[in-house]
Amino acid sequence: MKIAIGSDHGGFHLKKEIIKLLEEQGRDYKDFGTYSEDSVDYPDISLKVAESVQSGEFDRGILICGTGIGIGIAANKMAGIRAALCHDTFSAQASRQHNNANILTMGERVIGPGVAKEIVKFWLDTEFEGGRHTRRIDKIGLMERSF
Ligand code: RB5
Repeated sequence: MKIAIGSDHGGFHLKKEIIKLLEEQGRDYKDFGTYSEDSVDYPDISLKVAESVQSGEFDRGILICGTGIGIGIAANKMAGIRAALCHDTFSAQASRQHNNANILTMGERVIGPGVAKEIVKFWLDTEFEGGRHTRRIDKIGLMERSF
């Protein structure tokens, strides 16, 4: 599984912690920035990570900002992107099982690195359940194409 990861300045330190986890687990990942604490605009990072997932170059994305909200709102503007804000492991699992979320978003100002790492582990290791959930996701795709 190829993982794209990115953050704005508000998520920079948590992103570093998550990258450590990805490295410990021997995961295949690419860091799309930002690469310092200098202020950047989170939609620019959303665009890079979401494009890499939308194109199929990467299988999943992880986006981190101060709250996880703005970076996820921006990513969800891209067709085919299902970005889920998860600050607990139950939501992380459900976002994969029911929503086939292809991007996980989190907020560095909301949760600590310990919880965030558990969320990432659950999110990466949980499969989509398909079945009735496929029909619902197809309806989201129809909305994207229609409006
Ligand atoms: C940056 O200060 C902050 O607004 C951003 O990281 C994020 O929380 C936006 O949703």
